[in-house]
Amino acid sequence: MTHQAPPSSRTPDAVARRLLTATAARSYDPGTEIDWDAPLPADTWFWPPERLTLYGTPLWERMNHRQRVELSRHEAAHLAELGHWFELAIIRMFSRYLMSQGGLDARAFYALTEMADETRHITMFGRLLNRLDRPYHGVPARVRYPFPLVDPLFQGITTFASALVIEEVLDRLQREVAQDERVQPLLRAVCRLHVSEEARHVSFARAELREAVRLASRGHLARHRVLTALVAYYTVPPLLRPDRYGDVGLPVKEARRQALHNPHHRETMRWSGEKLLAFLTEVDLIRPAQHHLWRRAGLMA
Ligand SMILES: [Fe+2]
Ligand SMILES: [Fe+2]
Repeated sequence: MTHQAPPSSRTPDAVARRLLTATAARSYDPGTEIDWDAPLPADTWFWPPERLTLYGTPLWERMNHRQRVELSRHEAAHLAELGHWFELAIIRMFSRYLMSQGGLDARAFYALTEMADETRHITMFGRLLNRLDRPYHGVPARVRYPFPLVDPLFQGITTFASALVIEEVLDRLQREVAQDERVQPLLRAVCRLHVSEEARHVSFARAELREAVRLASRGHLARHRVLTALVAYYTVPPLLRPDRYGDVGLPVKEARRQALHNPHHRETMRWSGEKLLAFLTEVDLIRPAQHHLWRRAGLMA
């Protein structure tokens, strides 16, 4: 692991300045960019079938096209519901971090700019949920209860690593959806808008994380390796494993069991975390001692 300072074009300050310029040049208002009133075409996927939890299972083989599309509508609603909550969590983590730093520099201004982006995204996911019109489940207790208790411990490293865990995993899936012509235009438009702004967030979190790791003591870094792996373990399976089978009229226990052991679904989870894990390993935030947690998070084979 290197403790060298980055070249001047890659310092967190230089990155933040570039991102502020990029935001000023290209930001989107979901209220006007997306046609919220367009009808939803019948029998059209709400999410790519290969990315659904039951794809390829014996239960899937017994479902007709309409039931499969309905499952895709529920699983898309689940992702929007959790995305909505995780964006709020990012705002909370950033606001806590800024309150402890008190910065008046480009890095602090960009963090505030990102919070403004996330506010628009939260509204967008809320509108999408209204449009999908499926039962609201609330964020699983496993995510909702521990978060306010542990987020004061996050400081710089786990704040930016947690933001990356959510942003990179969703980014990989949403990029694919944005390109998939089989998917409802509304879902594709939401994903397209989101990935175009999230690319800036990922650049910011990566630059900040590199810097925080570079300046951390060995003991501090060791604690944050574990904390980051725990964040992934507590958030990624509830995010990527929607449990809406009862709403679609499927046998719940059996569907859960088949989803859990579904090799297609396991591969989707691992694939969604590929870029994230490569980066966190590169910056020395994942070592073999944490691999069991990353495996349990579903992101490592
Ligand atoms: Fe976002
Ligand atoms: Fe973001």
